[in-house]
Amino acid sequence: MSRSINKKKHTVGTFLRKKTKGEKITVLTAYDAFMASLLDKVGIDSILVGDSASNVVHGYNSTLPITMDIMLAHTAAVARGTNAALIIADMPFMSFQPSIETAIINAGRFLKEAGAEAVKMEGGIEMVPTIKRVIECGIPVMGHIGLTPQSINRFGGPKVQGRGDESRSYLMESALALQEAGCFSIVLELVEASIAGEITTALETTATIGIGAGTNCDGQVLVTNDMLGLRPEGFRPKFLREYANLTPTIIEAVSQYIKDVTNGSFPSEDESFTT
Ligand code: KIV
Repeated sequence: MSRSINKKKHTVGTFLRKKTKGEKITVLTAYDAFMASLLDKVGIDSILVGDSASNVVHGYNSTLPITMDIMLAHTAAVARGTNAALIIADMPFMSFQPSIETAIINAGRFLKEAGAEAVKMEGGIEMVPTIKRVIECGIPVMGHIGLTPQSINRFGGPKVQGRGDESRSYLMESALALQEAGCFSIVLELVEASIAGEITTALETTATIGIGAGTNCDGQVLVTNDMLGLRPEGFRPKFLREYANLTPTIIEAVSQYIKDVTNGSFPSEDESFTT
């Protein structure tokens, strides 16, 4: 059993320390051990095992179908590939909404069985009693407000939140209540930039992590597959910056492999075992 302390390990404390110092917090998603090990090696603060795995890994057109068991498997894989980054597991649709007890049991499974160090739960002020109890059980929680994809059917599509007075008040009220409940951070997804900035300033002990929420958040998160260009043709939201375009690279490599196998040039003698 290892009792050594990893001095470079990021914890929920990293989020508050960086917010206080005005340093930006970096978060990306991962769903497997190898990608997690790359993000970790390069120095990402935190890896979110997002329920976006439902779309980007499993091919569904929403986050609703992914299950606890599948999210546990992704989280355990990410934990095996991670050394320093804080691992946050996304609680899937209906793993925490039915009751406080359900939420505590499922949040606990991510820490006990999969190696997560925090969980994320979607929802504003209406989810605060549940989130508060999970935190009281010793489980750090990242909140998630704005466009919350698990409620996509209620929103009627990916609409920017915080554009009218009512929506702005709801977001601010929710953010303050999530801070009061003890969330160490809150994802602001598809949120009008000025209200995202006002929320970030109003929160003292909770860091805001934006995705499509402008520049004034304490940190940013993107879906790694999207920022690497591993995304379906035509999916290009305004907030997405593509740092690489790996799709043509993969298509070219696989096409070349098919050619080489077909024409007999792969494997060569050098790539074969001889006596
Ligand atoms: O599931 C996910 O990847 C997320 C991020 C986009 C915040 O919730």
